[in-house]
Amino acid sequence: MRFFAALLLLFFFAPLAHPQARRLPTDQTAIDAGRQIYLGSCSGCHGATGEGSQGPSLLSGRASRLSNQALFSAIKNGLPGTTMPNFPMADDKVASVTAFVRSLTTPAIANRAPGDAARGEALFFGAARCAGCHRIRGKGGHPGPDLSDMGVERTLHQLREAIVKPGERIAEGFRAASATLTNGTRVTGVAKNHNNYSVQILDKSGRLHLLRREDWTALSVEDRSIMPPLADATQADDLVAFLSRQSLRPYAAAGASQ
Ligand code: HEC
Ligand code: HEC
Repeated sequence: MRFFAALLLLFFFAPLAHPQARRLPTDQTAIDAGRQIYLGSCSGCHGATGEGSQGPSLLSGRASRLSNQALFSAIKNGLPGTTMPNFPMADDKVASVTAFVRSLTTPAIANRAPGDAARGEALFFGAARCAGCHRIRGKGGHPGPDLSDMGVERTLHQLREAIVKPGERIAEGFRAASATLTNGTRVTGVAKNHNNYSVQILDKSGRLHLLRREDWTALSVEDRSIMPPLADATQADDLVAFLSRQSLRPYAAAGASQ
């Protein structure tokens, strides 16, 4: 009997003693409010986009592995013995900043992007000409990366950066390449494998050219992207919203209520 009483006590009070599950707001308004607080109070130490400066990066490593509750209390109470100060704000404000910090490392699909996904889709396959180089579920062209799983593989921030500043971080295997062959033809595209003796160039038609040193008279593989910068910056939100929905498997938002 005593055993069961203890079990019952444990059952009722354990969640209080270990408040593991803290729900964070998921609506865009709260996250935007969190971003504003972040820019005012945190960016000086953690960088404008969480990349870190005096304080550590919030984009990778430790911060992304903290539970919602641990993240929340680090922000509310600070980290004693370090220069991370406490922020005695109302809990809903702390929750907003926490949700914003969390959104920096969760897959894009777990967040609500501000743009209009349907408009983004129309742009992607139409006026913005993205599909000329990219494929989504088999639709589109080469030689850009397949974007069918972007919502799961990238954060909203990474998607936006890839679109607004192509070439800042070039995906491996996608550097701009061009070769003049011994027979005079030119091959351009992206370099898949490149060393002193051989290169593989994927061209716009999706053909992979396997070239050995004796096949070319000139070769350039550059640290730049062949992706043009977005001509109309106002399209970025809609394109990000569309790409953030792309997932090859149904996505279960595991992090949403942790
Ligand atoms: C005066 C500089 C400073 C300010 C302002 C600041 N931080 Fe920090 N923060 C730090 C430092 C330094 C650490 C690392 C402490 C340590 O050594 O563990 C840290 C740690 C953190 C961590 C834990 C990260 C980890 O890797 O464990 C989070 C989350 C965090 N800060 C969020 C915020 C947020 C959100 C704000 C604004 C509300 C903020 N910080 C404001 C300096 C600052
Ligand atoms: C001329 C070809 C070309 C066009 C047009 C193009 N891209 Fe790209 N894109 C690339 C290549 C090549 C890369 C990989 C190199 C890099 O990261 O810049 C890339 C990278 C990306 C990435 C990052 C992929 C990753 O794995 O992180 C995204 C997102 C993206 N493009 C979206 C777009 C969107 C949206 C458009 C239309 C506005 C577009 N691209 C137009 C060639 C193109």
